[in-house]
Amino acid sequence: MTPNEHARLAGQASQILRENDRGAYTVPTKGLYPFQWNWDSCLTALGFAAFDEDRAWREMETLFAHQWPDGMVPHIVFHQEDEGYFPGPDVWRTGRPVPTSGITQPAVAGFTARRIYERSKDKAANAARVRALVEKIDRWHAFLCTARDPKGEGLVAIIHPWESGRDNAIDWDEPFQRVPGEGIAPYRRRDVDHADPAHRPTKEQYDRYLWLLEHFRRHGWNNGVLHDLSPFRVVDPGFNAILIRSCADLAALAEELGAADIARANRARAEKGLAALERLWSERHGQYLCLDRTTDSLVDSPSVGGLIAVFAAIPEARAGAIGARIMEIAKRCRYVVPSHDPADPRFDAKRYWRGPAWLIVNYLVSDGLAAAGMDAVAETIRASSLQLIEKGGFAEYYDPLTGEPCGGGQFTWTAAMVLEFLRGGEARALAPV
Ligand code: GLC
Repeated sequence: MTPNEHARLAGQASQILRENDRGAYTVPTKGLYPFQWNWDSCLTALGFAAFDEDRAWREMETLFAHQWPDGMVPHIVFHQEDEGYFPGPDVWRTGRPVPTSGITQPAVAGFTARRIYERSKDKAANAARVRALVEKIDRWHAFLCTARDPKGEGLVAIIHPWESGRDNAIDWDEPFQRVPGEGIAPYRRRDVDHADPAHRPTKEQYDRYLWLLEHFRRHGWNNGVLHDLSPFRVVDPGFNAILIRSCADLAALAEELGAADIARANRARAEKGLAALERLWSERHGQYLCLDRTTDSLVDSPSVGGLIAVFAAIPEARAGAIGARIMEIAKRCRYVVPSHDPADPRFDAKRYWRGPAWLIVNYLVSDGLAAAGMDAVAETIRASSLQLIEKGGFAEYYDPLTGEPCGGGQFTWTAAMVLEFLRGGEARALAPV
C-alpha cells in the first residue's frame, strides 16, 4: 500500500467515526443500529484514540455510566427514542433510568482500556479518569465471574445468543432446541427493513431470542437467578477468551495505576479461566468448541468462537494449532477469517454469523496470533482485512468467498479496526498472568 492509499483509507475511516458520533457515544451505523452497543463502543474507542484520545475515553465512560448496580454492563443503551429498531426499550422494560437492554456482551473493555492508556501521550493527565474506569470494569468482571459462573468453574456462560456478539452462529442451533418459540407477544422485526432478509437471522431464531427475553423479564431481570433459570446456558470460548484477556490486561493496568487489589483479583480470574478453557479444546477439530452447560457436552460446531480463543494467552501448542487451522481455511476462502468453517455443510457465506468475515474478529484473532509469535498468519489476516475494505468499503461484514460487502454500510467498528490495522501489527507479549 502506498502512503497515499494509506492516508486515504485512514481519512475515510476517521470520517465514518465522526459521522456516526452522537457527542458522547457512537452508533454502529445509521438506520440498522441507532443506539450505543457495548463491545462496538469499546472497540470504537480504539479508533477514536488514533486522533482524539479524550473522545476515546468518553466513549467508554458513557457506556459505563449505564452499568447496572449488580455490575452488569448492558449490551445496548437506548440514549434516545428510535422506531427503527426492534426490540426497543418498551420490550426490554429493564426499569433503568436511561433505558438499556437486560443482557450483556463480550467484555472487551479491559483490553481496550489498557491499549489506549499504553499509547496515551499524557498518562498523568488521564490517570484519574482511567482509574475510575478500571474500578467499573473490575465490577463487571466480578459480575460475570459470579452471576454467569455460579459454581465457580472458571468459565462463564452466556444466557442469550446476543450476549456472544455472534447473534445467529451455528453454535446456538443445538442448544436452541431447548428454547421454546411459542407463546411470545406478536412482534414486527425492523432489521429486515434495513438489510437483506436472506442475510439475517431467521424467524425461528427471532422467536427464540424473544422467548428468552420475555422469560428473563418475567423474572425481573434478577441476575441472581437468571443463569440457573435459563434453558440456554452456553460456554463460548470466544466470550471467555475475551474476558480472560481483559482480566489480564486490567490487572496490568491496575498495577500501573496503583490499584493492587484489583490487579490481584483480575490476575486470579485470568489464571483460573485459562486453566478451565482447556475443557473446551477439541482434538478432532484442532480448535476450541462451545460447551452446552445444561448437558455438559461440547457443541459440534467449528466456528470462529473457537479461534478467537487465541486472543487469550492459551498454551503455545494450542495457538499454533489455531494458526495452522486458519491457514487451512484460507485455502477454501479467498478472504479470512470466516465466522464458520467453510468445510462444514452448514456454512452460509452471506448469513451474518454463519460464514461471513468480520473485521473486529479479524483484529482480535490477529492480535492474539501476533502476541503468540505467529506474525505470518497475523499478517495474512491483516492483508485480507484491508483488501476487503479496498474492494467493498467499510461494511458490517463480508462474504469470505467473494468479498461482497454485506449488512449495514459505513460501519463504525469496521472503520475503527481499519485504523488499527493501518497502524501495523502490535506483536507484543501478552500481559503476564
Ligand atoms: C449485531 C452483532 C453484534 C453487534 C451489533 C451492533 O447484533 O451481532 O455483535 O454488537 O450488531 O453492531
